[in-house]
This record gives sequence, structure tokens and C-alpha cells, in this order.
Amino acid sequence: MGGHDEVRPAGDAGGFRVVVAGKGGVGKTTLTAVLARLLARRGFTVLAVDADPQMNLAHALGLPAAEAEALVPLSRNADYVEEKTGARPGGGWGQLLRLNPDLSDAVDRFGVAAPDGVRLLVMGTVLQPAVGCLCPENTLLAATVNALVLRPGEAILMDTQAGVEHFGRALARGFQQAIIVADPSANATATALQVARLARQLGIPAIHLVVNRVREPGELARVDARLAGQEGLFDTRHALPYDERVLEGDPAVSGLFEGAGSAFLEAARRLARAVVETEAEVAICAS
Ligand SMILES: Nc1ncnc2c1ncn2[C@@H]1O[C@H](COP(=O)(O)OP(=O)(O)OP(=O)(O)O)[C@@H](O)[C@H]1O
Ligand SMILES: [Mg+2]
Repeated sequence: MGGHDEVRPAGDAGGFRVVVAGKGGVGKTTLTAVLARLLARRGFTVLAVDADPQMNLAHALGLPAAEAEALVPLSRNADYVEEKTGARPGGGWGQLLRLNPDLSDAVDRFGVAAPDGVRLLVMGTVLQPAVGCLCPENTLLAATVNALVLRPGEAILMDTQAGVEHFGRALARGFQQAIIVADPSANATATALQVARLARQLGIPAIHLVVNRVREPGELARVDARLAGQEGLFDTRHALPYDERVLEGDPAVSGLFEGAGSAFLEAARRLARAVVETEAEVAICAS
């Protein structure tokens, strides 16, 4: 874990930012929602940011369907984007952007209340496929998450679009931790390695590997075998079990918090603890 001074946005007096990434369908959104609610239950002030254009996080957090569907993503609020970046969404290249928009009011204006006191900010289509695109939405994402000044006890958890193509600087800037989710398949492990390398290059100090939907120890052993020699990319490795209860409540995670404890929830609780402990270590390294 290196001491990256840059990684904590100027003005931050504490708090932490965690980005969740990985291959398609491995459980990123489910895990982001569970972690957001677990941290909120532990007393953290949590902002969950949905940076995936598919916008599933509201449903996962357990917002009523009608409310989730009525959400207007930040990037679709053209007037707001223009006001803050100086360019209209979809305007493309060559526009004169104001690069450091003050967006600290974005959460107050566009955040919505989710269960357990989590605040949700839905970005909408924030990333264009063009490499290096300095489109307004992209600027908006980076600017939004970096403009929010965090105090101790405040956390941002960001769910992202599947794959590595979109995992660029705008997504990673200012994040102290990356949770890279895989399932036990060879493809998901390969994607996790790619994302982890990118996350390292982008200077994220702490990188967790989460192997989700594990049904038996042999699966985890195979993942470990595939990672042989590259374990150093990850600061911690966690396994989350396959759990029918996740599917029963799909897409909402609310049911996991009711009744008897779910195996998935218990394992996610250990991950949440690791994230909180890692934050303390990163803060010491950076000071
Ligand atoms: N541990 C688990 N046990 C059983 N089912 C799970 C588990 N984790 C996730 N799922 C199920 O897997 C499916 C995919 O999960 P999720 O939508 O969270 O993945 P994702 O990585 O966000 O997908 P996408 O790449 O499309 O955004 C969902 O139906 C979810 O309920
Ligand atoms: Mg998702």
C-alpha cells in the first residue's frame, strides 16, 4: 500500500471513497448496495454513486420500483451539467469546459434517500466509449465525486459499468480503495486482474479482490491457482458464498437484512470491516 498524497481530493478531511468494479454480472451492484447499507448501519454517512448507465443501484438498495424508475440521472439534467461544466451533455469534443466545477451541491439537489439512511446519486450515461473523451458527462462524474468534501465518518461507494474499457482515470481519481469483484470463472478472474492492474496504475492505494458466488472450496482454490504469482496486486482477498437468498430478493438486497442472517450478508460484513480497517491504514500511509 503506497502513500499516495494525490489520491485524497484536496479539501478532504477524512472519510473514504471506494469504487466497485469487475466483469459483467459478477455481483458488483448487489455488493455495492449491501456494503452501502452495512456501513450506514455502522453509523457512516454513506453516499452510493451509480456510475453504470444501466442504473440498477436504486433497485438493489431497495428503493420502491416507482421511485427508482422516476429518478432523473444527473447527466440527463442538461441544465445542471451545462451550468457546472460549461457544456451541454452529448455536445462532444472541443467545447470549452470549466474543469473544476463546484458540484458539492449535487448531492443535496439530486441525491435521493435510500433505506438505512443511504443517499443515492445516479449519474446516468457518464462515460463515452471514445478513449480520452473529455465529454461533459465524464467531467461531471470526476468532478462530482471529487468536489464532495468528506469528513471522517463519511463514505462514497461507487458502482461501475462492467469491464475494463470504462475503468479510466475519471472513474478512479480520488478513490482510496477499489473492490474488484469476480465470480469463480476463469474469465471473471482474468478481468479482475486487468482491472486491478489499471487500478494500480491509476494510483488507487488499496485493492481488494472479492470472489463472489462461491459454492465450494474447490472453486476458490482454482481462483487462487489462476492468481498464482499475481497475488501481490491485491491487498486483501475475500470470498462471498453463493446464496439463494440473494436471488430470492433480486434485485433488492433488503430481504438479506430481515429474518435469519444470510451467509452472503455475514461474509459481506467481514468485507465491510476490512474496508473500514483499510481506510485507517491508507490514512496513516498518506499522512
Ligand atoms: N452471492 C450470490 N449468490 C446468488 N446470487 C447472486 C450472488 N451475488 C449476486 N447474485 C445475483 O447475480 C445477478 C447479478 O448480480 P449483479 O446485478 O449485482 O451483478 P453486476 O456485476 O452488477 O452486473 P452488471 O455487470 O450487469 O452490472 C443478480 O441476479 C444477483 O441477484
Ligand atoms: Mg451492476
